Amino acid sequence: AIDIAKLRSATGLITLDSGFKNTGSTTSSITFLDGEEGVLRYRGYRIEDLAEKSSFIEVAYLLIYGELPTQQQYEDFTREITMHTLVHEDIKKILDGFPSNAHPMGVLSSLICSLSAFYPDSLNPNASAEDVNLSIVRLIAKMPTFAAWAYKNKVGHPVNYPDNSLDYCSNFLKMMFALPAERYEVDPIVAKALDALLILHADHEQNCSTSTVRIVGSSQASIYASISAGINALWGPLHGGANQSVIEMLEAIKADGGDAKKYLDKAKDKNDPFRLMGFGHRVYKNFDPRAKIIKKAADDVLNKLGVKDPVLDIAKELEYAALNDQYFVDRKLYPNVDFYSGIIYRALGIPTDMFTVMFALGRLPGWIAQWKEMRENGEPIGRPRQVYTGATERDYVSMNKR
Ligand code: ACO
Repeated sequence: AIDIAKLRSATGLITLDSGFKNTGSTTSSITFLDGEEGVLRYRGYRIEDLAEKSSFIEVAYLLIYGELPTQQQYEDFTREITMHTLVHEDIKKILDGFPSNAHPMGVLSSLICSLSAFYPDSLNPNASAEDVNLSIVRLIAKMPTFAAWAYKNKVGHPVNYPDNSLDYCSNFLKMMFALPAERYEVDPIVAKALDALLILHADHEQNCSTSTVRIVGSSQASIYASISAGINALWGPLHGGANQSVIEMLEAIKADGGDAKKYLDKAKDKNDPFRLMGFGHRVYKNFDPRAKIIKKAADDVLNKLGVKDPVLDIAKELEYAALNDQYFVDRKLYPNVDFYSGIIYRALGIPTDMFTVMFALGRLPGWIAQWKEMRENGEPIGRPRQVYTGATERDYVSMNKR
């Protein structure tokens, strides 16, 4: 048992909140989230409106600079990004060093971190606003190039260079899928669907990866190192990695005869580590508003592209069964953003192990906005306390007496 009186005298009073379930780490004016009502707004704008009416670059501007851009600001921002899409040729040497079976998330985080070496100006914690802005633009510009290259490394194809005549998503798709010997035309339906998906992923207040970005940044590490850390945090299956796990789970259910109920029972069994991937959320105790939009988009995109994917039916069956099951109802477990997103990615031709990379591509402006806010607020270094439960003082025992 913890001796609170002793603890208090040794360390001062410490609140213990494992997993930060009720502890705020910062104030923020970027993203509003009401988990009980299922509401998500970026800088006050409803996610539903942004997903329908805006573009990803516009939303990136909104998150980072706080306002929707004017036409002029939008054009300037787009031009700046376009001017920085090319990456230093030596970064390809780093890419070449990865084995072809390297998970693209590991490749992406490494390449992003390497920008600290290629742009050492980013190491200056007192960099001017102009220099910080340059780092921000470089990140947004180069991330699609790295993401596409991580995929090319995986499939063993030569990398493609950016095509600055294309918009953000079309350029990314071309770098992903174009082959030297073939003509490649970006499908505007695919580019539009991808753009909306990126918007839906663009920020989500103090989740695991965002808190990671802020805490790494609070030590005054470079923005590239901070974002790279965020990518690593996102990778895990309980966070962004869930989108890959969802499709793998749905595939497994399909291969096992398509019995959704069997897997629902497995998820409820406390002796079985299996969880229904894409279900549940730390903050949402209602429908994740992003999941609602993505579910509808999955139907639309598959229809428009003429794709029939049996796992979409399994997903819907699973959702229906879970929403009518007392275990899920009692715990307020609803589909989250990852439940249907993989089905769209798949229809767009994006391979499963690139799903979390797609999430990272979308989340980038949010991470940047949060890093910038942390820096502008002059927040102190993040340094959580602990409640020590180890041995009290012990006398050293020499090796021959152990
Ligand atoms: N399947 C089955 N049971 C679940 C699930 C699930 N997907 N999620 C939560 N539960 C149960 C837990 O076993 C627990 O039950 P208990 O009260 O009987 O012990 C209860 O619901 C509460 O769950 P916690 O794990 O305490 O909730 P927490 O807020 O810590 O975790 C999390 C949230 C990690 C998202 C969890 O719901 C989960 O593991 N979901 C599956 C993975 C997933 O989809 N992650 C993506 C989240 S969205 C994102 O990061 C982008």
